[in-house]
This record gives sequence, C-alpha cells and structure tokens, in this order.
Amino acid sequence: MNTTWKAFVTAAVLALPAITHAADDALVKRGEYLAKAGDCIACHSAPHGKPFAGGLQMTTPMGAIYSTNITPDPDTGIGRYSEDDFRHAMREGVAKDGHNLYPAMPYPSYAKVNDDDMHALYAYFMNGVAPVKQANRESDIKWPLNMRWPLKLWNLVFLDNGVYQNKPDKDVAWNRGAYLIQGLGHCGSCHTPRGIAFEEKALDESSNAYLTGGVLENWFASNLTGEHNTGLGRWSDADVAQFLKTGASRHASAFGAMTSVINNSTQAMTDADVAAMARYLKSLPAAGGSGGPAYAYDAKATKVSLTRPANDAGARVYTAYCMHCHGVDGRAFAPMLAPLAGNPNVLEKDATSLINVTLNGTEDLVIGGIPAPYPMPKYASVLNDQQIADVLTFVRAGWNNGAPAVGAADVAKLRKATQAAR
Ligand code: HEC
Ligand code: HEC
Ligand code: HEC
Repeated sequence: MNTTWKAFVTAAVLALPAITHAADDALVKRGEYLAKAGDCIACHSAPHGKPFAGGLQMTTPMGAIYSTNITPDPDTGIGRYSEDDFRHAMREGVAKDGHNLYPAMPYPSYAKVNDDDMHALYAYFMNGVAPVKQANRESDIKWPLNMRWPLKLWNLVFLDNGVYQNKPDKDVAWNRGAYLIQGLGHCGSCHTPRGIAFEEKALDESSNAYLTGGVLENWFASNLTGEHNTGLGRWSDADVAQFLKTGASRHASAFGAMTSVINNSTQAMTDADVAAMARYLKSLPAAGGSGGPAYAYDAKATKVSLTRPANDAGARVYTAYCMHCHGVDGRAFAPMLAPLAGNPNVLEKDATSLINVTLNGTEDLVIGGIPAPYPMPKYASVLNDQQIADVLTFVRAGWNNGAPAVGAADVAKLRKATQAAR
C-alpha cells in the first residue's frame, strides 16, 4: 500500500464513527419528533416528575393504574428491551417479561405505526432519553380483576393489529393524515366512544362510530366528524390546523384533556403534518350528533335577557361572572377568548366538559413557551351547584344554541368526582 492510499484509509476510518454518528443523530431526531406525534410524555411522566419516568395515575373502570418508566434505565426502565421487545409492547401490548399491558397504553392505535417509524422511536428511547432510576408502581386494582391473562382474550377480540395500509384511491396528504390520526396520534382513544369492555368502538373511518366523541376522565372529547352542530362541519381545514397548532380557532378553544395534547404534541408537528391531519378529519362524513337543524347565529333573545338579567337566574350569573370575557354577543374575542355562541362543545348533548371547565378551569395552554394570557377561571369555590347549572343552562339556550338544560345534580356529581381526583 502506498502512503497516499494509507493516509486515505486512515482518514476514512477516523471519519467513520463521525459519519455513523451523524446518521444516528438524524434517526434519533426523527424518533424524537415521532414521540411527540405519539404524545408519549403526557402519560409516561407524573406531574413535576422526570420526563418518561412514568408514575402518572390513570383511572380505569376497575381502579387506578400507573404508567411505567420508559427511560433507558436497565433496571427500572426499558434499557434491556430489544427493538423486537419494544415493537411487541407498542403493537401487541406485551411487556418484555411477557405480561399483558392494560389498554390504557394505546397499543391498539400504535399497532398501525410502520417499521421505519418504530425503528426511529426505538433509537430515540435508547439514545435520546436520559435514563432515570425510578421503580414502577403496582396498580390499585384488586384481585381478581388485576389478573392480566384475560387481556389476552381482550386482544383476540379487539386488537386489529396490522400496520396502516395506504388507500390507493386517496391522495398522499389524506393517507398521511389517516396514518397520524389513527396511529401515533391515538386521537380515537379519547374521541371514539368506548364499549362495555373499555374497547374503542372503532379504530378507523370504516365504522361511523369512529371519532364521534366520548367521555374519558371527566371530559367529553368532542365529535370530530363532519357533523354540523357538534362536530367539525362548520370548520374549514385551516380552522382545524390552527386549532391543532395554537389551541384555538374562531369556533372553540382547547381545554381539559385536549390542552396537554396541544401543549406536548400537535403544536410541535410540521405544518404539512398538521394540514394532513386536518384534511383527513375534514373528509369524515357527519356522524353522531342529534340530527337537529343546522346552527344559525341569533343574538336577539339573549341580548334582551342580558339587559334585564334579574328575571333569569342564569343571566344573572352570566352578567356577573362570565360576560366580561365571553361577551354580550357570546362571540367573545375568538380565537383569544373562546366563543360560546355556536361552540360545538356548548351544543353537545353531553355537558360533562362544560360543567368540568366551569368548576375547575383548565390547565394552561402553553404555545411556543408562552402561557395563555386569560385562561378560564375556576368557579368551584365561587358558585354553588345550582348557580353553575343555571348559567350553563342559560349559555346552552342562548344565541340560538338550542342545547338541553343542565341540572344541579349533574354539577354535584362532577364536583365530587373531580375534587376527589385532586
Ligand atoms: C394514554 C396514555 C399513554 C400514552 C399516550 C403512551 N403510553 Fe405507554 N403505557 C401507558 C401505560 C398506562 C402503561 C403501563 C400499562 C400496564 O402497566 O399495564 C404503558 C406501558 C408502556 C410500555 C411497556 C413498558 C413496561 O415495561 O411496562 C412501553 C414500552 C410504552 N408504554 C411505550 C410508549 C411509547 C413509546 C409511547 C409514545 C409513542 C407511549 N407509550 C404512549 C400509557 C400510555
Ligand atoms: C387525552 C384525550 C384526548 C386526545 C388523545 C385527543 N383529544 Fe382532542 N379533545 C379532547 C377533549 C376533552 C376535547 C374537548 C375540549 C376542547 O374542545 O378542547 C377535545 C377537542 C378537540 C378538538 C376541538 C373540537 C371542538 O369542537 O371544539 C379537536 C379539533 C381535536 N380535539 C382534535 C384532536 C386530534 C386531531 C387528536 C389526535 C392528534 C386529539 N384531538 C387527541 C381530548 C383528547
Ligand atoms: C378571564 C376570562 C374568562 C371568564 C371570566 C370566563 N371564561 Fe370561560 N373561558 C375563557 C377562556 C380563555 C376559555 C378557553 C379555554 C382556556 O384557554 O382556558 C374559556 C372556555 C370556556 C368554556 C369552553 C368553551 C370552549 O371553547 O369549548 C365554557 C363553557 C366557558 N368558558 C364558560 C364560562 C362561564 C359559564 C363563565 C362564568 C361563570 C366563564 N366561562 C367565565 C375565559 C373566561
């Protein structure tokens, strides 16, 4: 070998680790992006806890369970997971030692994630996340319900495992949106109603129960189909994209369980991915909803009761506590402040979210590191059950909203449930 050749080989060998390292960095970065699309951090971190170290309490119909440590710590985390082990957990809900995971881990959705993306996610969790030594916490579910073997039967019946397949009759953006929404985004785990076995009634648009809305942890996750009143029928693609990026649009603002989705996940996604998700959602035909007449704004009747609020218990509470933010016209200053007139959540038959947000306000929406300037206040210690029922009944009837009244007993029930969780 001549010296120039030797020098070349030496230089190439010296450069090698740097080159493979650069490739790994790109892979780890892509995995980090996908972990955001999957919002892993929301469930796998406890309030004020270390990222991905687990310990978040989640309520299920059988009792509380705790998310697990998915940092690469070899003893308490997933440091000893091979890529195959990781894929099994993500797609089949089986941990490395063979025990079945509760479907609070959204593996029925993650089953759709393709091999390339699984590879990048694994690279990120092994190389991009700091290991944390923190032991997992046992669930509070009592014997015999804590036995995990019945989950194998559950999986046989409800797990539709198969990676997402592109639909050749749809365009690239639609398929990308469907892949993200059904897969990593696991939007259906909140937005699709659940059946008696806690299973999501549908995992894609082939069933018309898909994304028609459902209650989870005391919030009603809205109907995302094309339904005109309670769904996204009146939203443009751009309205949906704006909501996912900023947590607000001219129709509604994010609150409750959706706040953390926006804070940790959708705002970090590229404009192209957000547009693709909007495109897919806007292609879903109207489903769910009451089938009532299409909403049309009308301020008249409401203005009259607001000028003479003494005659209406709900109007009295509204003028004293709500009007300076939500407005006489119910349109507030959207998207800065949420409108109540025509708002799909206000029109929704199930009032769970409205009661909860009035009692407890909401976790701060944080966009680009900046918290929302005028968040919805908490009224739990200011207004009693009857006052909250009155004001929500007023809001649901106002501005032609035409939604059913709210009863004080429903407020009492939610007050009890949400105070207990605090
Ligand atoms: C909606 C909440 C939720 C989200 C989102 C979520 N997980 Fe989980 N995950 C859980 C829960 C709860 C468990 C534990 C279940 C159990 O103990 O049966 C779990 C368990 C796991 C396990 C098994 C670890 C072990 O040994 O117990 C892995 C791996 C995992 N999750 C990875 C992920 C990744 C990667 C993401 C993001 C792409 C993610 N999870 C998103 C709730 C969630
Ligand atoms: C942890 C539960 C949860 C998950 C996961 C979730 N959402 Fe939501 N979402 C909610 C709740 C609760 C609401 C109602 C409150 C609100 O309007 O912000 C909501 C509201 C929305 C709205 C506003 C609808 C309206 O009429 O006001 C859109 C759009 C939306 N979600 C899209 C998505 C998409 C897309 C995903 C997946 C990337 C997703 N959500 C995942 C809980 C969730
Ligand atoms: C300081 C201003 C402020 C006041 C006062 C206020 N709100 Fe809100 N409200 C908000 C904001 C902002 C949101 C959007 C969620 C967020 O970002 O906190 C909201 C959201 C809501 C929602 C959910 C709407 C949606 O987007 O789907 C309802 C319902 C609601 N408020 C009712 C009330 C009622 C009833 C009162 C009076 C008892 C009231 N608000 C007082 C600011 C306010």
